[in-house]
Amino acid sequence: MALDTATANDEGVAQQRDALVEWMFGAAIGMMDILTVYIGDRLGLYAALAESGPLTPVELADKTSTHERYAREWLEQQASAGILEVDGVDSPSEMRHYSLPTGHAEALLDRDSLAYIAPIALQMVGVASPLPALLEAFRTGGGVPYPEYGTDMRDGIALANRALFVNLLGTQWLPSIPDVHERLGADPPARVVDIGCGTGWSSIAIARAYPKVRVDGLDLDEASVAAARANAESEGLGDRVSFQVRDAGDPDLAGRYDLALAIECIHDMARPVEALRAMRGLVGEGGTVLVVDERVGEEFVAPGDDIERLYYGFSLLHCLPVGMAEQPSAGTGTVMRPGTLRRYALEAGFGGVETLPIEHDLWRFYRLVE
Ligand SMILES: C[S@@+](CC[C@H](N)C(=O)[O-])C[C@H]1O[C@@H](n2cnc3c(N)ncnc32)[C@H](O)[C@@H]1O
Repeated sequence: MALDTATANDEGVAQQRDALVEWMFGAAIGMMDILTVYIGDRLGLYAALAESGPLTPVELADKTSTHERYAREWLEQQASAGILEVDGVDSPSEMRHYSLPTGHAEALLDRDSLAYIAPIALQMVGVASPLPALLEAFRTGGGVPYPEYGTDMRDGIALANRALFVNLLGTQWLPSIPDVHERLGADPPARVVDIGCGTGWSSIAIARAYPKVRVDGLDLDEASVAAARANAESEGLGDRVSFQVRDAGDPDLAGRYDLALAIECIHDMARPVEALRAMRGLVGEGGTVLVVDERVGEEFVAPGDDIERLYYGFSLLHCLPVGMAEQPSAGTGTVMRPGTLRRYALEAGFGGVETLPIEHDLWRFYRLVE
């Protein structure tokens, strides 16, 4: 009996071990694939293939001012990963022609497409770049300031969310809230404050959808605000959309707005209650406060689904350390559950939180009410 139990246990342990080994092996290949997508994105290799493909390694290197030997290795790796197609697989390596399938081109290059997934590669490089500082934060209880995640993270967030804003924010999400939609289209022209606006694409999308509205975007990150200003100018909206470097929790924030919204940023803040209190003050009576944040479950479960795993990953590697960079900190992290937001809202003086019936796989829409 004792022997049988030991054998069963050994088998169970071996299965458990092999499952983890297999999973990590696959994840390592996936991670390297993502890093090679980053290379293709940043060096314009996909863009060159979409524009001029099929290309040989020398042709790709010429068009992108890269070295032929690296271009060739990347092309072979991408074809091996199934991202590119190759013609003449049996030909000498320098004679093969590589192309980007049309569907892949949309996912990797079309900034306006809801299928645009390339920015996730920028985010993966971004979250990994300050890892030594994260290890230190684990030991000290400190944090990693947002700017330390650099351009890759900033661009990755901006471009990942931009397609959602351009396609859905002003044309589906806000129109689905009747009183808000009506006010944004009415006179006198409505004013909107976009808290934690990042590089400004949400502000720009609102201004584009509602031609009378003026939008003020506020963000703590100087580089994001500079990019937001440039984006608004290049979209021809500089007269109705403005951006400032401000802390959302600053009690001196002034103005009177019809709508205050905070998209994917309350969970990043060291002082989320102060930010919600400021938003409440900025809209006064009759205004609307909206928070858009991650669609995580009501409760912790293990193992979690892909959404929970995605957001725990971002939390550990980015959002929690960003929020912990300022002390004292609420230490929220990306996995801000509805109950946590409700608690923050009540502490900020609101009477409650409604979840709006807007369907989205990744985000949940909250209206904070008196
Ligand atoms: C994940 S990004 C989201 C940006 C933008 N809302 C979007 O959806 O693309 C979070 C943003 O919150 C900003 N942020 C964090 N804490 C802040 C604070 N206390 N005041 C203002 N902005 C803050 C960061 O600088 C960053 O741009």
